Amino acid sequence: MAVMKEENGKYYPLEDFVEQAYVGSRAEYEEMWKQSVNDPETFWGDIASELYWHKKWLKVNREDFFKGEIEWFIGGKTNLAYNCLDAQIKKGRGDKVAILFQGEPDEDVVKLTYKEMLKLVSKFANVLKKKGVRKGDRVAIYLPMIWQLPVAMLACARIGAIHTIVFGGFSAEALRDRILDAGAKILITANGYWRSGKNVSSKANADIACDLCAKEGHTVDKVVVVKRLNNFDVPMKAGRDTWFEDEIAASDISDVCPVQWMDAEDPLFILYTSGSTGKPKGVLHTTGGYMVYSYSSFKYIFDYKDKDIFFCTADIGWVTGHTYIVYGPMINGATSIVFESVPTFPNPDRFWQIVEKFKVSIFYTAPTAIRALMKEGEKWPQGRDLSSLRLLGSVGEPINPEAWMWYHKYIGSEKCPIVDTWWQTETGGILITPLPGAWPTIPSYATLPFFGVDARALQPRSSANEPAVDAPVNEQGELCIARSWPGMMRGVFGEPERFFNTYFVQQPGFYFSGDGAIRNEDGYFRLMGRIDDVVNVSGHRMGTAEVEAALNSYNTAVAESAVVGFPHEVKGEDLYAYIILKSGVEPSDVLKKELVGHVRKEIGPIASPGKIQFVSGLPKTRSGKIMRRILRKVAAGAIDELGDTTTLADPSIVDEIVKGRQ
Ligand code: PRX
Repeated sequence: MAVMKEENGKYYPLEDFVEQAYVGSRAEYEEMWKQSVNDPETFWGDIASELYWHKKWLKVNREDFFKGEIEWFIGGKTNLAYNCLDAQIKKGRGDKVAILFQGEPDEDVVKLTYKEMLKLVSKFANVLKKKGVRKGDRVAIYLPMIWQLPVAMLACARIGAIHTIVFGGFSAEALRDRILDAGAKILITANGYWRSGKNVSSKANADIACDLCAKEGHTVDKVVVVKRLNNFDVPMKAGRDTWFEDEIAASDISDVCPVQWMDAEDPLFILYTSGSTGKPKGVLHTTGGYMVYSYSSFKYIFDYKDKDIFFCTADIGWVTGHTYIVYGPMINGATSIVFESVPTFPNPDRFWQIVEKFKVSIFYTAPTAIRALMKEGEKWPQGRDLSSLRLLGSVGEPINPEAWMWYHKYIGSEKCPIVDTWWQTETGGILITPLPGAWPTIPSYATLPFFGVDARALQPRSSANEPAVDAPVNEQGELCIARSWPGMMRGVFGEPERFFNTYFVQQPGFYFSGDGAIRNEDGYFRLMGRIDDVVNVSGHRMGTAEVEAALNSYNTAVAESAVVGFPHEVKGEDLYAYIILKSGVEPSDVLKKELVGHVRKEIGPIASPGKIQFVSGLPKTRSGKIMRRILRKVAAGAIDELGDTTTLADPSIVDEIVKGRQ
């Protein structure tokens, strides 16, 4: 069997793959890319024309990065749910499976065709309307990975309600914050779900969150509960809580629901993500541009063909699941797997068992999962038939060459191209990526910008008066984008100034990503990690300031805290917390456990610090600013690289911190 050719560290796609790919050479890509940035009117206009518009746009785009203003498909009217469902049925895909749900118990499989999805979505849209939900209202969704989640999303999109999905692993407090910020009056949740052989309750957190909202003067009027687990009782509050199953079965609920035609710039969803302050940002995406971008990026990057079976292992609670489990696949008429459980239960071959069972052809996961499975040994993938796979993807954090090689060898059998896709919640879809049939890849390089993406690695600038200068080849710069692309976020919900200040000030005239990147001789991008106070723990994005705020709120013990990231073999990065205790409070392991428990309660398990060190002070400049560089170096064990510490108010604190390193 042919394997991919490797030359000077570059891996070339097989000829068979190239022949059938949408884009078969770099030259072809260059031509398309040039048109996409120089003549978006034609390039994006043509792509958008492949989709259904109730009213055609007047102009493709308009932007002003000096004001943070972006518009796409101006004046156009469409509906994303219509394009994902009705339009697919019109194209003859009515009986094709749209959502393939695989529960944790292997026999728990639900296959929903496009026609069945349309009926379910229409019913649930009618349920939402019955409950008073109207265009522009926010609907909070706190659901596990079950098929009802895409149904709920598409139901919102059909009637123009704005969904805000909260990852099921977030705590009640984190859920409260998001409900309050979005002003959601309705919450969709489940009684519980399966996780590693246990039943976990979602409703318990949902109830606490609703009570906490009430304390802040905000009432969640309606809670719809999916009965995911049988024999798993949860309290139902009369007048507020109802079962999803009863609601959609009610005699007055029709399985037909008229479409709310949306302006291209009408909001589609809000998704909260971490930034460099203590408060998560409500990233706002709108309808038309996001639709066109999720459509085209899915099609070209995954080289999607009608016969493919697509499996993205992300959670729909993160942007990857929004764009590449639900919207991107469905607008392309694909079969997309929704998987409830974890990669390692009952054995560390669960992903591979699913690939074998459903003959998955495109598989998309995160480096942290690959590293965790790599540790379990190759016997697990070798015990499964993975011959249906033709393309692999990676997302969420830089993929280290060892993990890349393992993925390539044991999962891709040295024949599947790997697309290492760089993007963010803010970008709506993938921005930097290989096109799998068009050029060779290098492990740990995300390679080239997708169509419409004018990406640059820029040298830092101190003011708008300085010109923007590209970092020299192979030297790190700030990853920025010079113009808007259709899937770009349009704002931070309720905080227009924060939107501008976060993304458009660091490099005036550009969108600033928060990531560092280098470009090599071929123009390939290599992502170097965040250069702001955001850490990627197991591919989950966490703001260090958020974790500090959670720690500081344990105010019986904590006087001050500083949290930084440090390299971790499996998680990619982990959190390291330096804590100054209040006078009279004794440091102890019990206290460490309490602090971890407190952070889990305030945010969720994904925010628990992996290491905690009690300190008597923090390295601060004379003006009181914490020198995080030093804390990062100590956490990483790079004690020889601490650099100049003489500008600190009290340089002796560094010795103490180094000695007490965990
Ligand atoms: O640091 C980058 C990293 O993940 C961040 C975005 O996180 P989030 O908004 O949660 O979205 C994750 C899924 C799109 C980025 O700023 N990141 C994402 N993909 C990659 C990556 N870092 C390196 N390589 C990638 N392929």
